[in-house]
Amino acid sequence: MQKIQIDAHANTQLTDFDSLIIAVDQQGTLLTEGLHDEEPIKALLQTLLTNGDLTGKNGQCLMLALPAALSVQRVFVVGFGDRNQLSDKGFLSTVQNVAKQVNASGAKAVLNGLAEATPNGRSREWAAQQISLIFQRSLYQYQHPSRGKFTAETAKLNQMAFTQAVSLQALQQAQATALGMALTQDLANLPPNFCTPAYLAQSAQTLANDYGFKVHILEREQMLEMGMGAFMAVAQGTPTPPKMICLEYRGADDRAPIALVGKGVTFDTGGISLKPGEAMDEMKFDMGGAATVLGVFKALGELKPALNVVAVIPATENMPDGHAAKPGDVVTSLSGQTIEILNTDAEGRLILCDALTYVQQTYQPAKIVDMATLTGACIIALGNHVSGVLGNDQTLVDQLLAAGQTTYDRFWQLPLGEEWDEQLKSNFADMANIGGRAGGTITAAQFLARFTREVPWAHLDIAGTAWVSGKEKGASGRPVPALVEFLLQQAQA
Ligand code: BES
Ligand code: MN
Ligand code: ZN
Repeated sequence: MQKIQIDAHANTQLTDFDSLIIAVDQQGTLLTEGLHDEEPIKALLQTLLTNGDLTGKNGQCLMLALPAALSVQRVFVVGFGDRNQLSDKGFLSTVQNVAKQVNASGAKAVLNGLAEATPNGRSREWAAQQISLIFQRSLYQYQHPSRGKFTAETAKLNQMAFTQAVSLQALQQAQATALGMALTQDLANLPPNFCTPAYLAQSAQTLANDYGFKVHILEREQMLEMGMGAFMAVAQGTPTPPKMICLEYRGADDRAPIALVGKGVTFDTGGISLKPGEAMDEMKFDMGGAATVLGVFKALGELKPALNVVAVIPATENMPDGHAAKPGDVVTSLSGQTIEILNTDAEGRLILCDALTYVQQTYQPAKIVDMATLTGACIIALGNHVSGVLGNDQTLVDQLLAAGQTTYDRFWQLPLGEEWDEQLKSNFADMANIGGRAGGTITAAQFLARFTREVPWAHLDIAGTAWVSGKEKGASGRPVPALVEFLLQQAQA
C-alpha cells in the first residue's frame, strides 16, 4: 500500500493541488472552513443549486471537472445533509464513497475540506483522523504473491492536506492504523496454502527485523515437552508444523507488559467434527486474531508508544486425519487442568488456553487481551457490525469499549457468570470444551476464563467482524483500530 503524504499544517494554496474536496449541508451551505477565497466557490454552489444539480443530501458527491473559476482540475462537492442528524455511520460511509470516487479520478494531490462536516458529538480532530484513515485505506488492495509487487501506477493519490491544521499525532495514528490494518488484511486474505503457521512466524520475524522487536518461536517438540496438551491435540491432526509465535515490544523500562493473544488457526475444517462444505473456504480467515495482533504490532513499531506489549500467537491448522483428536479424547492443558474434547471444531479455545497459560508463566503481564474468531454464535448474537467483548475485569472491558467507541471499531459486552460456567461440566475431565448451543459465545469465554483467573483479562470474539462475506469477501482489518487506540490510551495512563 502506497503511503499518502498527509500534511498536518493547513495548506489552502489551491495551486499546490489538482483537486479540491468541499463539504456542504442540505441547504448547499459551504461547511468547509479555512479556504482563502470562498467567493468563486460559493458562486459555483449557487449555480449548482439553481440548476437543480446539488441537493446537499448526505452521500451526494458531485465531481466538477475543469471548473472555470478555480485553478484546480476538479472539485468534489460532497453533501452531508442536516448536520444535527449526521451519525458516525452516515459520515463515515459518505467519506468512504468520496475516497472511492477520488481514487477513480485522476487526482494525485487533494485539498480536503471535509473535516468540518463533523457528525453529532464528534470533534473536527476526530473527523480529520477518520478521513485520513479512510483515504489511506482506500489505497489498500489485496495482491496475490505470484502476481508480483503492487505497482505504483495503480495508486495515484499521494498527497493530501486539510483546509485547517490537524494534530500531527492524530495523523500518525491514522497512518499507523492503516498500515497495521493492511498487514492484517494481507495475512488473512492470503490463501491457506500460503498463510501457514510458518508463514505467520515468518511475518513476525520480519516485523521484528523491521522494528526491533524481540521474537521467539516455539516448535512442536518443545510444546509437546512443555505439556501444551490442549494446543497439541489440535495440531496433531496436521503434518503442517504448528508454531507458538512470541513477540515483545519494549517502549517503557520496567512496566509489566500488556499481553495480546491471537487465535491463529490458518484453516479450520472442524477436524473430525467436520464442518459442512458450504463457505468452508472462509475458514482461512480463522487466523484473524493472529493477524490482528501482528497488525497491531506493526502500528506499535510505527508509533513507538511508552509501554511494553507482548504478543503470543498459537498457530496451527485444524484438520481431520488418522492422527487427529477424536470426540471423547481427554487432554491435559499446560495449566494442568484436564479437558474432554467433545467437539474438535471447538479448537480455538483449546489452542488459546495453552497460550494464555504460557503468556502468564513467561511474561507476568499486567493484563491480557485475547482476540479470536471463536464462535459462530457471536455472529448470531451480535451480527457483523460489533465484536463481542467479555472479561473478568470491568475496568479493562470499559477501556476496550471506550476505544471501540472512539474509533467506531465497536465492541459490545456480553456477560460472564457461574451459571454459564456450569455448562462446561464433564464427567470425565475438569471441563468439556463445549457447553451446548445456548450462549455459545459466553461458554467459550467461560472456558478461557478458567485459564486467566489470576490476571485482568478480556476476550474479543471477532467472528462476525474480522472479515466480510459475499461479493466483497475479504478481511476487514478489524479490530486493529480499536486496539491501537486502546494501547495509546494505556501508554498515557
Ligand atoms: N472458527 C470457528 C468459529 C466461526 C464459525 C467463526 C463461523 C466465524 C464463522 C470455531 O472454531 C468454531 O468452529 N466454533 C464452533 C464452536 C462449537 C463447536 C461449540 C461454532 O461456532 O460452531
Ligand atoms: Mn472450529
Ligand atoms: Zn476455529
